[in-house]
Amino acid sequence: MLGCACTCLKVMLKAQNSSAVVQRKGNWSWNGLGVRNYKVTVVGAGGGIGQPLSMLLKQNPLIDELTLHDVGDIKGVAADLSHICTSTQVDFFDGVKQQELIDSLHDSHVVVVPAGLPRQPGMTRDQLEDANSGVAMAVSCAVGMACPEALLAFITNPINTIVPIAAEFLKAKGVFDPNRLFGVTSLDVVRAKTFIADYMNIDPATVEIPVIGGHAGKTILPIFSQCSPKFTGEDEDVKRLTERIQEAGTEVLNAKAGKGSATLSMAYAAAYFVNALLRGLNDEPGVIECAYVASDATELAFLATPLELGPNGIKKNLGLPSLNADEEAALQKLLPELRQNIERGISYAAKIIDAAKPDQEPIKEPDCKVEDSAKYAQSN
Ligand SMILES: NC(=O)c1ccc[n+]([C@@H]2O[C@H](COP(=O)([O-])OP(=O)(O)OC[C@H]3O[C@@H](n4cnc5c(N)ncnc54)[C@H](O)[C@@H]3O)[C@@H](O)[C@H]2O)c1
Repeated sequence: MLGCACTCLKVMLKAQNSSAVVQRKGNWSWNGLGVRNYKVTVVGAGGGIGQPLSMLLKQNPLIDELTLHDVGDIKGVAADLSHICTSTQVDFFDGVKQQELIDSLHDSHVVVVPAGLPRQPGMTRDQLEDANSGVAMAVSCAVGMACPEALLAFITNPINTIVPIAAEFLKAKGVFDPNRLFGVTSLDVVRAKTFIADYMNIDPATVEIPVIGGHAGKTILPIFSQCSPKFTGEDEDVKRLTERIQEAGTEVLNAKAGKGSATLSMAYAAAYFVNALLRGLNDEPGVIECAYVASDATELAFLATPLELGPNGIKKNLGLPSLNADEEAALQKLLPELRQNIERGISYAAKIIDAAKPDQEPIKEPDCKVEDSAKYAQSN
């Protein structure tokens, strides 16, 4: 464990920088600037997204403790990160035992999950789902046991199905809070900002646009009519850029030619989203981001919409933005596909949860273990 060495490094750095002196207050720490510091755990920290995401989080002044977890060996990643001269303490837990995962999660305020198989060229979202459903099961059950009040943000694809699976297992554990479970769709927003800024020849940081729906192909719906500054293109530009945003994952997949999917832009987007969650926890007013969450904005149980974030996760779901006729039609068109994605997740979880009844209610181990993830792959 690096805990001891890192604590020493942290203490040295804190002594050098008086503004960063930490006073422990129960579970919380304060950095002397009037803001709380938090513990963030990255599950899947050794992967293509997990490593750069962890590096970005190591630079976040709101994070006091950064804990890494992976089923693979991440001792080296943790050692490497711990040498970066910020005051965030780095710790790690690795291995396929559920206990390692649970130990990594205790006292976490935010758990962000880039664990699981990435899409390969030619692989469908359904095939990806087969591989990653067990990850959603294992992580949500472990969060339910170790840190049920944490904000849980899944990056693992396919988000449209993974989040409903996680919700079902959290419900089975008796700890589901719809305000604390998120599917990270920030990469769709990041891409929309970039492509719109390129088109309008402006700074991407000045672009605001809601992206609603889901997080796969046609279920991704950027709302150009609500773009700020006003989008200056024609209808055909909206159509072309919408399709590019929807297929941007495949663009990266093909460019990497079998050597991975979007990792660096995803790490950026996830670090941005985690920072927004932490700003919300800190009760900063006006923190608004889109994410895929439990929702009553349409007849579907889950939808990505703009959310106001706060000390308990979602402070207010801002619901559907104003839509023009084309956007309304596109929304109606995507709902059946999204409904199927959601139903697949719910029925996957129900099969496992029902098998555990009647003598294991609420659902207990061993049904949720990391080491059982493959056994509970969707196709089984
Ligand atoms: N939400 C998005 O916008 C978005 C964008 C890109 C990729 N993704 C998804 O993110 C996930 C990770 O992608 P990647 O490129 O980093 O993959 P990767 O294979 O490089 O890394 C995945 C890591 O997860 C670990 N892992 C697997 N199962 C685990 C478990 N049960 N518990 C803990 N760790 C586990 C692996 O050991 C590996 O280190 C994939 O599902 C991918 O499809 C999401």
